[in-house]
Amino acid sequence: MARLKSCAQCHGEDGNSLNAGTPSIAAQPRIFLENYLVLTREGLRGSDAMQRLLKGLPDRDILAFARHYSSLKAVPAPGAVDRVLFERGRAIAARSRCGSCHLPDYSGREQMPRLAGQREEFLLEVMLQYRQNRRRGGDTMMSAALHGIPESEFPALAHFFSRLK
Ligand code: HEC
Ligand code: HEC
Repeated sequence: MARLKSCAQCHGEDGNSLNAGTPSIAAQPRIFLENYLVLTREGLRGSDAMQRLLKGLPDRDILAFARHYSSLKAVPAPGAVDRVLFERGRAIAARSRCGSCHLPDYSGREQMPRLAGQREEFLLEVMLQYRQNRRRGGDTMMSAALHGIPESEFPALAHFFSRLK
């Protein structure tokens, strides 16, 4: 599919992004990808660039994108591990039961995205968007899940998830 080439420009040939602010989409649960891409096609999620790319695309192509990227392997985000921050993030995630939805290894399932190995700055930005209710088309479930966790703890969470294999 020609449009896959455009996705690769931002998300990486293998779905593992090397661009700051652009998430990796390899090994994301198929249902999460389908939902996100359908809503983006309808202009309810995602960036303007993605909305233009997906506009008018038939469902079978969306399903094919989702199948393709969900079948690719995740390569953890690059960067050194800060042990103190990592352990702090691990403890907050355990205490907050993030794994009850995202799975204990944070690989995601169904409509819950993979957090393990995702880019750190993307995770941080998205959590702030949920907290401040400005994630376009975002699921309010996540704003509720972050309730009670101070924003000052978000960097530890983002660091922990991003360094998980
Ligand atoms: C111009 C760069 C660009 C192009 C081209 C692009 N994307 Fe994106 N994509 C982004 C950015 C930036 C985000 C983060 C937006 C957000 O916060 O929801 C994103 C988010 C996503 C997400 C959500 C990931 C997550 O974990 O929340 C999916 C899925 C996705 N893109 C799939 C695609 C597909 C499939 C294509 C090709 C049809 C594509 N993108 C083309 C830049 C791009
Ligand atoms: C009740 C289930 C549930 C719980 C508990 C939960 N999440 Fe989520 N999370 C979701 C769903 C569903 C999404 C997708 C939301 C969307 O599409 O906007 C999501 C999305 C996310 C994202 C965006 C990732 C991406 O690639 O777009 C982050 C980051 C995240 N969750 C972090 C957390 C953290 C940190 C915790 C624990 C404090 C947590 N989640 C607990 C259901 C949950």
